Amino acid sequence: MAKGPDGKNTSGRGQRDLTVKVKTARGRRASSTRWLQRQLNDPYVKRAQVEGYRGRAAFKIMELDDKFRFLVPGARVVDLGCAPGGWCQVAVPRVNALGQKAGKAQGRILGVDLQEVEPIAGVEFHQLDFMEDGADDKVKDWLGGKADVVMSDMAASSSGHKQTDHLRIIALCEAAAYLAFDVLEEGGTFVSKVLAGGAEGELQKLLKQRFTKVANVKPPASRSDSSEKFVVATGFRG
Ligand SMILES: C[S@@+](CC[C@H](N)C(=O)[O-])C[C@H]1O[C@@H](n2cnc3c(N)ncnc32)[C@H](O)[C@@H]1O
Repeated sequence: MAKGPDGKNTSGRGQRDLTVKVKTARGRRASSTRWLQRQLNDPYVKRAQVEGYRGRAAFKIMELDDKFRFLVPGARVVDLGCAPGGWCQVAVPRVNALGQKAGKAQGRILGVDLQEVEPIAGVEFHQLDFMEDGADDKVKDWLGGKADVVMSDMAASSSGHKQTDHLRIIALCEAAAYLAFDVLEEGGTFVSKVLAGGAEGELQKLLKQRFTKVANVKPPASRSDSSEKFVVATGFRG
């Protein structure tokens, strides 16, 4: 039976699918109306509400982990760009961050974001711009050792210019990858959001040198009309 992050059964809750139509309103732009309409009718948005996740992004990491199995009990995880905390919510039970799974190793989750994050039991949050000078040293200090997973969903707010957004996200992804190279345990996993758009070739080359397998995945929860995809690099060579 499906369970939310609060441990309650969620099957059977909120199953009705009523399409919500949003009327245009004075002062609201057509693009905002379209966004609102899509948001109100998005099954993942509804599922996140029903299952108690802070956002639909939770289902992306869930689907990636169901396929690649990196969030295992005992894993030490760094979550970059973690606000509002959906990925962390998924990671807590999977890595046994609260030590509730008897006989299984207890994991650890370190979340970092520009924005403040409401606390989640089992997660240590730090507010930080990961692109500022010395940010990776701060994360290494907080971590105080190795990590098994470095995952990044960092995304700068859209500039409206596709190529600029693409370059920005690649820069965020590269910064996350360099942290991963420094802190990952041999065999560790790196997961990062990227945008399909051409400039990611260098990054892929770099990852292929440092990991045994590099996969590019578009999980079902990632909107089909977005150029977002995820790179999952497993088997860090150390
Ligand atoms: C798509 S959201 C992440 C959603 C998150 N994975 C979840 O499940 O709730 C992207 C996040 O990246 C963060 N971000 C963007 N640039 C950043 C930076 N330079 N340093 C830290 N966080 C950053 C944003 O503040 C935003 O919260």
